[in-house]
Amino acid sequence: MCGIVGYTGTGKAGSIIIDGLKKLEYRGYDSAGLALQNEGKVVIIKTAGTVAALEKIYRGNCLTAKTGIGHTRWATHGRPTEVNAHPHGGCSDDLAVVHNGIIENYKLLRSWLIEEKDHQFRSETDSEVLAHLIEEYYDGDLLAALRRAIDEVKGSYALAAISAREPGRIVCVRRDSPLVIGLGKSENLVASDIPALLNRTRRVMVLEDGEFASITAEKVEIYDAGGKPVEREILEVNWDLEAAEKGGFAHFMLKEIMEQPVAVRETLRQRIDLPSGKVDLSELAMDTGEISRLKKIHIVACGTAYHAGLLGREIIENIAGIPVDVEVASEFRYRRPLLAEDHLVIVISQSGETADTLAALRLARLRKVKVLAVTNVVGSTIAREADQVLFTWAGPEIAVASTKAYLTQLVALYLLALYLGQVRKDVDPALALDLVKGLLELPAQLEKLLADEKLEKLRAYSNHLACWDNAFFIGRSLDYPVAREGALKLKEISYIHAEAYAAGELKHGPLALIDEGVPVIALVTQKVVLEKSLSNIQEVKTRGGAVFIITRDDFGDLIRQEEAVFTLPPVGDLLAPILSVVPTQLMAYYTALARGSSVDQPRNLAKSVTVE
Ligand code: AGP
Repeated sequence: MCGIVGYTGTGKAGSIIIDGLKKLEYRGYDSAGLALQNEGKVVIIKTAGTVAALEKIYRGNCLTAKTGIGHTRWATHGRPTEVNAHPHGGCSDDLAVVHNGIIENYKLLRSWLIEEKDHQFRSETDSEVLAHLIEEYYDGDLLAALRRAIDEVKGSYALAAISAREPGRIVCVRRDSPLVIGLGKSENLVASDIPALLNRTRRVMVLEDGEFASITAEKVEIYDAGGKPVEREILEVNWDLEAAEKGGFAHFMLKEIMEQPVAVRETLRQRIDLPSGKVDLSELAMDTGEISRLKKIHIVACGTAYHAGLLGREIIENIAGIPVDVEVASEFRYRRPLLAEDHLVIVISQSGETADTLAALRLARLRKVKVLAVTNVVGSTIAREADQVLFTWAGPEIAVASTKAYLTQLVALYLLALYLGQVRKDVDPALALDLVKGLLELPAQLEKLLADEKLEKLRAYSNHLACWDNAFFIGRSLDYPVAREGALKLKEISYIHAEAYAAGELKHGPLALIDEGVPVIALVTQKVVLEKSLSNIQEVKTRGGAVFIITRDDFGDLIRQEEAVFTLPPVGDLLAPILSVVPTQLMAYYTALARGSSVDQPRNLAKSVTVE
């Protein structure tokens, strides 16, 4: 997820663009740049680091420039360096492009441009291909060149381009990544999101998928994929800036919960092949011989990432048949873990900077054990020091309470389990195909779940929950790690003392704590232990506990008749954890709202724990 801004008008394009980029840094902030039409050339200024770093080196250059484009990056292909920062030019210095998205066939296009058309590339990014393609096809009309270039491209893109040969003009196109156009007085803008426009205008038009636009200070023309002009409604935005940065949601946490379908879709993109059901993680460049000789996996992480690891154990053991240990990094790093060269250590970290997890990685490497990192941040310390990295494409996660990053960690672990199993020929092809199909259905199921009016029941129960200082989450089998994650979410943003127990453990002590009205959230999605889970719920209810059940629609009336219940769309035991955690995230969110705690920045906590 990156941020794009374009401006053309009578103002100082450079400073207007930089101001707009600052409002988009929640979309990415590891490198930034801008390109300005200036005295018959396109001048590109860019740097690693934040927009503030760009502002420092921009200061005062090209002050007369009236047209330009800018970009703040969240690296996917190519490290967050100056040369990989956007904008990207072609071979000449009269054109520039900024891009948000992933060009899936960039390697093919890059080889063709280099070998057949003699283009010289500078960066290791997929996006630079777009600049050379447009340059290759430019024949006096930038929009026509853009159209021809896009015809060759597969993937997701929101893209803006300028040429020194067409002063005052910006052309753009989008597919799967957002672009909005701002209509000002003798000026017009384009951006990835509304916050970048609000200092100049509140009149916006949304570009739809597949549409192109040609923008000058006086005119905005929108065309459909076939080149037909399109009339578009002008919207009046009444959000304040803060609301706009959260996409109109009250908190980043809620926005990021709602972004989960897209985050899962992006993490799956290009890694699954249908109808074969094969998972392609060749990006890991893992030695297949080493994979076949693997005797054990150690998953090491902290907090929510550790809970993803607990599910990772079940997933990898179930699918790939490799024994897995899971441990919190702060313990692993001070023990003498039994490691061997035919073991693999998997570290999971959203930020890629957690001190304990980094220390565990370094310990494993010291002991000559290969380390694979699952992380959300390209260029993070953990990403740079691991032997292999499986990136989650959740985009920047701002709220301290991790939601979309956690969900994409699970997806990454399912993909990894299937990949390892397929390389070792240990996974039943029918199971693999079934799971792959199930994974591909997840984004739509998540969208359905997040739009379900039954979520109101969750909100009602959260109001009850908010009146208590203690709460319990229970679950069996794969429901137990989800119960632990649900308890952590509730704990960290509502400050309620929430504990998770394996449901079968209640009678060994915790049941003594159940009394009239005590909130107990029961995860019941595992068919294999359904009967046992139901009897645990009865144990709690007969002692007065106020039970809320998160279960599956396909479990029939047996459980649906309960009044406090949220049913998930039909899903198998193995994939259920990806859906069942979402109601617990929303429950934590609603409860924290009801208790008035600070949702995005809870007390005593930090988004990335870079100290011990
Ligand atoms: C999760 O909601 C918490 N913010 C915290 O437990 C977090 O998961 C943990 O600090 C690990 O962070 P990481 O994934 O960036 O390594």
